[in-house]
Amino acid sequence: MNTEIFAHRGSSGDFPENTMPAFRDAIDSGCDGIETDVQLSKDGRFIIMHDEKVNRTTNGKGYIQNLTLEQIKGLDAGIKKSTQFRDVTVPTLEELVDLLVASDFQGKLNLELKTNKIPYPGIEKQVFDYLNSRTDIKFEIIYSSFSDRSVQLLHKLDAHRVAAKLFKKNFSSAIALHKERVIEDIHLEIGWLKKHIGEFQVNHVRPWLVNTPADMEFCFKSGVAGFFTDYPRRAMKLKREM
Ligand code: G3P
Repeated sequence: MNTEIFAHRGSSGDFPENTMPAFRDAIDSGCDGIETDVQLSKDGRFIIMHDEKVNRTTNGKGYIQNLTLEQIKGLDAGIKKSTQFRDVTVPTLEELVDLLVASDFQGKLNLELKTNKIPYPGIEKQVFDYLNSRTDIKFEIIYSSFSDRSVQLLHKLDAHRVAAKLFKKNFSSAIALHKERVIEDIHLEIGWLKKHIGEFQVNHVRPWLVNTPADMEFCFKSGVAGFFTDYPRRAMKLKREM
């Protein structure tokens, strides 16, 4: 069975999402890939965070694009998950890459560029240049975005890496693009995939969010390329048992 398991924002079910403890646990779980989100701070640094604002996951307030790295590093990104994670900080992309390199990570890193709400002009080229400057990266990288523009740009810049389009709505367009192979890979919601599974070449589809054993089983049996889960250990165990 080749269905790959991606830890969504790291092992975000049990650890504060998109933080080093969540990434360390994902690496230890032996999962096939790690998914994370990249945005830019006011001073142009790569910030690992899902939301455009720091409010939900940290003790701070405001948009990432209006805060400097120093300000963001002063925030607590663990306390909202549990007091046991007090003082966990928001990582940069560089810190995550350092961790993966040091851990000899052999899986895939899925970098979602959060360009659908805030364009972050130039982020695609900056991420591409940064990754190219890291000659020590041995793992594979997949780019993804909800933004058509970003996906096309990434595909042009870095044709040998997969650039995947994310879909939460407008599924007829997802099917059309997928059939025409305008985009290489497609990431979409599990509920919707379950209803329309027959309309996709499943080996280019990665659904999210797959957290229950029933959904995981569905993915393994249907042969999708991979899926995103907050619980990579649970998924790996099921994969071994199937
Ligand atoms: O690729 C699927 C996944 O990246 C979408 O998840 O919630 O992190 O945007 P989210």
